[in-house]
Amino acid sequence: MSSKGSYAFLDNKPAQQEMAREILAGLKTQPKTLSPKYFYDAQGSALFDQITELDEYYLTRTEMALFDTHLVDIAQHLGGNVCLIEYGSGSSVKIRKLLQTVTPAAYVPVDISDEHLQANARALHKDFPALNVLPVCADFTQRFELPAAVADMTKVGFFPGSSIGNFDPQGAQRFLENVHATVGPGGAMLVGVDRKKSVSVLEQAYNDKQGVTAAFNLNVLTHINNELDADFEPQQFSHVARYNPQLGCIQMFLRSDVKQRVEIAGETISFVEGEELHTENSYKYDPDEFLALADSAGFGSLAQFSDSRAYFTLYLLQAR
Ligand code: AVJ
Repeated sequence: MSSKGSYAFLDNKPAQQEMAREILAGLKTQPKTLSPKYFYDAQGSALFDQITELDEYYLTRTEMALFDTHLVDIAQHLGGNVCLIEYGSGSSVKIRKLLQTVTPAAYVPVDISDEHLQANARALHKDFPALNVLPVCADFTQRFELPAAVADMTKVGFFPGSSIGNFDPQGAQRFLENVHATVGPGGAMLVGVDRKKSVSVLEQAYNDKQGVTAAFNLNVLTHINNELDADFEPQQFSHVARYNPQLGCIQMFLRSDVKQRVEIAGETISFVEGEELHTENSYKYDPDEFLALADSAGFGSLAQFSDSRAYFTLYLLQAR
């Protein structure tokens, strides 16, 4: 057996036509809506990295501290011959800590942005030469095939950062069911989830003083302009983020400051003054709520770790 890990890339990237179709469909619903997955072009990913450093945005540093404290324990639970499957490959600091402590046999990052994915995966392949790095370019909200090489490994899904909050609870359950199908019985999942807490703490995290979150939200319009034939004027929209207590989520919108029309891929979309284009939900879960959701998708709890302020929880789930 060779000690040198392999590198192989699997391309299942959805066609650009699919992006145009999905975006137009969302802009024709009432209220208008865009999927948060379109935040993450190169500029959006850079802005998100800046968000994670903001004083107000406690999520990333709280989760990171949980990693630092509990990763050895988590690695012991997982054992050997692990295939680590990361849903979205934007969290290179966290994955490096995990790779160092769990030392899996294979690492499968799954991401819709092939440039981002391959740049990260190649860097990891260089820094962890014994590791099999097998990136899959795919929309992980859909089911996808794993590389054949990992068939006999213990599959462990990794979904940090409370990204699961972007789904509504029904979507989160479906996602967890897909993960269950991918990891199989005896597989596991490590997932970081932001918790319900004071509304002012939540709202400040999405309305930072420096306006980085506003720039991140508005950048989705620039991304669409660049990717499709569109003429959004981002300066004619304003960032809005507020907590919805009925749904238990932060909701982000882009409010049209004026009555305006936008051309997108040959179609015209009209906005009235003050109209809110919905761009993101970020659901927050109490542990009992999240464990019930996981249970309904076939996962039991192996362990859970929270910070002293009870802001954030890391769950290690096991597939039945
Ligand atoms: C990456 C989805 C976890 O919801 O907190 C940060 C994205 N949006 N600020 C979140 C986000 C605005 C983030 N997630």
